[in-house]
Amino acid sequence: MKNNHLKHVGIGILLAGVAGCAVVGGGGEADPRWADYKNWHKLTADKVGTGDPVGILGNVHKGKDGYRDVYVNDIGKATITGSAPYVFPAGSIVIKEQFANKADWEAGKNPGMTISIKKQDGSGSSDNWEWANKYTGKAGPSAFCAGCHTAAIGSDFVFTTADFLAEH
Ligand code: HEC
Repeated sequence: MKNNHLKHVGIGILLAGVAGCAVVGGGGEADPRWADYKNWHKLTADKVGTGDPVGILGNVHKGKDGYRDVYVNDIGKATITGSAPYVFPAGSIVIKEQFANKADWEAGKNPGMTISIKKQDGSGSSDNWEWANKYTGKAGPSAFCAGCHTAAIGSDFVFTTADFLAEH
């Protein structure tokens, strides 16, 4: 998009227009690709998600005492709610809300958010994924996120699949 195209364009249209570029998310606006995630399919609707099911959390994702909810967009829903092999199509987004404790979770108070975005088709490589570390965060590569999520390489870098939820 060239600057001279932007002169007379309102900010809302600007944000919508650059949704495909990896530059959205600064300035306090959520990326339009996940801004309405509360309306997405909630994988943990019937589940109390807490503890450290994989045993690798440490202090990440608010640690073992935190409580979590996980949402998926329409593009990733069939894959994540289906069965192995879990290979997500490009455009799939998985969002995790993490609360510090049970009271916060019950009140829906102050969730931290982490976001996994499948940027291109394929399996077996973290290069297919981008990551954001908050609702208004910017999607991009992250060795920190990808490194740990490599433990879920068998399910395309996503832990919380239907099989996972059935087991934990
Ligand atoms: C220390 C390891 C570790 C790091 C670092 C880490 N995660 Fe996770 N993540 C996990 C584990 C384990 C789960 C599943 C269990 C849970 O939710 O606690 C998970 C769950 C998630 C989920 C829910 C979907 C899924 O894969 O189960 C998202 C989304 C997510 N992480 C995104 C991120 C992002 C974005 C980052 C970087 C900002 C990140 N994670 C960093 C270990 C990690």
